[in-house]
Amino acid sequence: MLGNLTFHNPTRLHFGERALDQLSAELKQVGPVVQFIYGKASIKTTGLYDQVIAILKAAGKTIVEDAGVMPNPTYEKVKEGCAIARDNKVDFLLAVGGGSVCDYAKAVASGAYCDEDPWEKYYIRGEKVDHRILPIGCVLTMVGTGSEMNGGSVITNHDVDLKVGHVFETALYPQFAILNPVWTYTLPSYQMVAGFYDIMCHILEQYLSNTDDTTSDYLAEGLMRSLIHSSQIAVKEPTNYEARSNIMWIATWALNTLIAQGKSTDWMVHMMGHAVGTFTNATHGMTLAAVSMAYYKTILAAGLPRFKRFAINVWGIDPTGKTDEAIAHEGLAALQQWMTSIGLVMNLRDLGVTPEMIPAITKATFILKGGYKVLTPEEITAILHASL
Ligand code: NZQ
Ligand code: ZN
Repeated sequence: MLGNLTFHNPTRLHFGERALDQLSAELKQVGPVVQFIYGKASIKTTGLYDQVIAILKAAGKTIVEDAGVMPNPTYEKVKEGCAIARDNKVDFLLAVGGGSVCDYAKAVASGAYCDEDPWEKYYIRGEKVDHRILPIGCVLTMVGTGSEMNGGSVITNHDVDLKVGHVFETALYPQFAILNPVWTYTLPSYQMVAGFYDIMCHILEQYLSNTDDTTSDYLAEGLMRSLIHSSQIAVKEPTNYEARSNIMWIATWALNTLIAQGKSTDWMVHMMGHAVGTFTNATHGMTLAAVSMAYYKTILAAGLPRFKRFAINVWGIDPTGKTDEAIAHEGLAALQQWMTSIGLVMNLRDLGVTPEMIPAITKATFILKGGYKVLTPEEITAILHASL
């Protein structure tokens, strides 16, 4: 473990079939006015909405509803949420839903009492919050983003054609997260597998960097192996508790900063995926799946020892008598086979991308430097074309 680090994750996790029982005790620690944030229809259909309302009422809270948070939440909606929080003198934000609901809550938590434009301050300039923050709690219904135990908040601003993720400091992490794997059973298969790939991609974004011997990479390999195993069960038996609970737990640990400790990180698949999402509003995990293979083939030579290790330690490829390149390519082929077998979208056309959109998507892609290769805009364009 090279370098100096401080690890602090303040989120309390309540996990399991009876996790919601913990909500009452958590609510005792927060103020009287609660902004109840949720998406469109799913929590009403599943009955979770009624359960949460009953718990809030029993706790004596004043409930301010903030409904209709869309997948890939917009900055327009964030401004509405900030006004709701201020106008109602809200004390606490309770986010019930997937990553979009949770990310949106962080944007409201940081934006409600910001004197300047929060988009510019946080999502463009990446500053820390220097004013009142509203505390957040999360009840998770969709698995993938890790937003329940991190500071990430990804917001789309259609005025400037950008989807930007800001990683807030620990003060913006949810105070608590309630995770019952059973709530994820009702996810449509498309959303479920998109979440599975989001998890895999989060792990790979942190695994595909550096060359030293780091415990974080061994943890990443274990998480990937568990994900591959459980995902294959879950696609056949979506109500298999063992598989769905493992996947929910993996998703949280994949992106709560644990496996990034002691490392630089890549995140270029996410940068391209977010740019694709800006112009298509496509499901996040599918945007990642569509560009991944072309990206990994582009960086394979620069990160050859790690791609070889990935093939052997994660996919069980037998290295005997093979070149490093051949082993690495077998590992990528195994990844591709798994992606296809669980039903991911493997090309950008199926997400609505046309060749004419590629210059704008390239322009909206932020280029980061933490991985094995720093891409040029021309290479990004080539990856996007190869992903069509
Ligand atoms: O709106 P409702 O009706 O609730 O429907 C949602 C939504 O349409 C539905 N859903 C959620 N739970 C359900 C359910 N349907 C049936 N049963 C359930 N139990 O699923 C749809 C997608 O939900 P969403 O919250 O958008 O999905 P996800 O959790 O994948 O979040 C995606 C957003 O998170 C960002 C993405 O870019 C995207 O904007 N990310 C956030 C990150 C972070 N905070 O660290 C990192 C990620 O890399 C990612 O970028
Ligand atoms: Zn992601």
